[in-house]
Amino acid sequence: MRRVVGLVGGTGALGRGLARRLSLAGHRVLIGSRDLVRAEESAESLGDGVSGVTNQGACDADLVLVAVPWSGHDATVSSLRGDLDGRIVVDCVNPLGFDERGPFALSVDAGSATQSAQQLLPDSVVVGAFHHVSAEVLASDDALFSDVLVVGDDTDAVESVIDLVGTIAGLRGVYAGRLRNAGQVEALTANLIAINRRYRVRSGVRIAGLESLSDTDH
Ligand SMILES: NC(=O)c1ccc[n+]([C@@H]2O[C@H](COP(=O)([O-])OP(=O)(O)OC[C@H]3O[C@@H](n4cnc5c(N)ncnc54)[C@H](OP(=O)(O)O)[C@@H]3O)[C@@H](O)[C@H]2O)c1
Repeated sequence: MRRVVGLVGGTGALGRGLARRLSLAGHRVLIGSRDLVRAEESAESLGDGVSGVTNQGACDADLVLVAVPWSGHDATVSSLRGDLDGRIVVDCVNPLGFDERGPFALSVDAGSATQSAQQLLPDSVVVGAFHHVSAEVLASDDALFSDVLVVGDDTDAVESVIDLVGTIAGLRGVYAGRLRNAGQVEALTANLIAINRRYRVRSGVRIAGLESLSDTDH
């Protein structure tokens, strides 16, 4: 089904990569930004089906993805609370730090960025997804072949996100537990970045054991 997908922080690497693949999948995409001109410029380079709007404008969508750095996550989400009421919010944010020893997961009071968003948005349904897809791969012409771990407490919202993921060629949405499990999913990104640095690759995740499931089972 063709959906309207909003991207808060959509001018960034992940937002633009997702916008590209989502528009190729036939969805209408709203690239949100704190700066309307920046959003419009980003959207223009991505072609038909992608519009540039404010972050507030990006909330007027069937699903709203949050793709800002962790440092701006809570303030951004809080500022959009009214606009996000009643919406499905998909948190893609990885709270990570980097030092001379490499990437590491930050400790988050709420347990994870996704849980923090749900606390700050009590009238929205928050789901976590897209933490492990490489923005670089999304922006390239390379074929995708990876799973997107989807965490959430609301079954219908989780299914909507799994459906959306499945419309992107080469991606498969996999339910990975409730919101309380979002922390491990976000933290795993530190391991993937370490893998990327060590082996000079753009890694993702693919869950073993799901091969016998049909596309509609997961
Ligand atoms: N890059 C990846 O491969 C990847 C993959 C999976 C998940 N993620 C996660 O997705 C999120 C976005 O990653 P990214 O690489 O796209 O980040 P990014 O390019 O650094 O930032 C994304 C956008 O967020 C906005 N932004 C920057 N600082 C902000 C602040 N303090 N408050 C509000 N908005 C701010 C900017 O848009 P405007 O200036 O236009 O408002 C920027 O273009 C991160 O949390 C990351 O962990 C990234």
